[in-house]
Amino acid sequence: MKKENRVLILRDVLIPGGRIADITIINGRVSHTGSAGKEGFEIHCRGKMVLPAGVDMHVHMRDGAQKYKETWETGTKSAIAGGVTFVVDQPNSIPPLTTGETFKTRLHLAQSSSYCRFALNGAITPQSDLEGLWKAGSCVFGETFVGPSSYGEAVDSDTLSQAMSRISEWNGLMTIHAEQVSSGKDESLVDHNSIRSIAGEIATIRDVIHKNKSQCRLHFCHLSSAAAINTIPKDKVTIEVTPHHLFLSHEQFKADDTHGKVNPPLRTERERKELFSCWNKIDVIASDHAPHSIQDKDKPFEEAPSGIPGVETMIPLLMYCEREKKITIPEIIKKTSINPSRILGSLPPGYTPGSRADFALYPDEITQVDPDELHSNAKWSPFEGMNAIFPECVILDGNIVYQENAFTKSEKIRPVTQGGYNEFQSESDSSLWFAGRGYCLADTIGK
Ligand code: DOR
Ligand code: ZN
Repeated sequence: MKKENRVLILRDVLIPGGRIADITIINGRVSHTGSAGKEGFEIHCRGKMVLPAGVDMHVHMRDGAQKYKETWETGTKSAIAGGVTFVVDQPNSIPPLTTGETFKTRLHLAQSSSYCRFALNGAITPQSDLEGLWKAGSCVFGETFVGPSSYGEAVDSDTLSQAMSRISEWNGLMTIHAEQVSSGKDESLVDHNSIRSIAGEIATIRDVIHKNKSQCRLHFCHLSSAAAINTIPKDKVTIEVTPHHLFLSHEQFKADDTHGKVNPPLRTERERKELFSCWNKIDVIASDHAPHSIQDKDKPFEEAPSGIPGVETMIPLLMYCEREKKITIPEIIKKTSINPSRILGSLPPGYTPGSRADFALYPDEITQVDPDELHSNAKWSPFEGMNAIFPECVILDGNIVYQENAFTKSEKIRPVTQGGYNEFQSESDSSLWFAGRGYCLADTIGK
């Protein structure tokens, strides 16, 4: 039996650079950008911003033993409602993903309930079976805790060096949580900032780079300071920054407000501004979505877990920032979609033929972040009240998965593993990916 083509036409899309074109999507891929025919389901896009959907390469979806905090369903609905269609889950879950078996169990859980595309990372601990994780499909290794955090103990030097050497043999990628924790009380956001200092962040980065004799590909997660960014050599190493470090400082919170407690900590307002001034050096914006429950955050400061939910607000906050003319749409696309896709070895979504047809459609309307309207189970947000532009419609693989606040679950969600290879079913598909590896922003925006 001949398979019917699924055709979706996005009419009158304003492509960054000024061109207005129809985007024809067939079976989940962009097939033509220009004037479309009349056959297919249509969405009229005049007056809206149509962006390739986001790839958030740093989320903590919890579920399993911690499903009271978040489940794959609530976390990925939250991603989609924020214009993100691909999330990469961190392995400091309970249990941590240290073996092929634990990895596969979590893969099944995610596959049965995820609303968006996903990948899982493998954990780096002294007990980790790296080979087993790699074979089971670990996308990336890390975040590697070089400095402890909530649900993650710091790795020792030998474990780190051996892991870098092994992963480099596979040309794999290792992601690094770079912090040092000094002794001292931890009873306020000021204390938290001082025991997990910028100086410690920098010293850890230097140490990791020094130990990387095997030239393993490294990605530094959630850098919190301009000084840390300026420490990073640009070759073979990529830089990630979160929206909370870009938009929040600890001075915006009451001293003992655990909602601002996160690792690395929120810095001072001056340091936040300095970080923002490094915008052009940042490769990736990722949320470090860490949805702790209100009850957990209500504990005394020292006991409360660190972390901030943010997968749903990440791109909407950036979209408002663009409206204020502080950043541009191509920059948002590059840092939230193209660069993370490339780093993960996955075909990026985009406007040109052959691209993955994942898009988010943003209206003109500015709204304020309201935790009651967000879809994460966390039900709180440190960005509450801030201006944002949320998508009104989200497309995944050429299907509408979110519209008018309603979700449609795609039956075809499959995990993305190393190199993104299993996204492609046929030879011709994989050659498309290799062609896609050379993608640059100009290709993706069709300029
Ligand atoms: O604040 C944080 N929370 N930073 C991390 O690196 C981990 C995260 C979590 O897992 O809750
Ligand atoms: Zn981290």
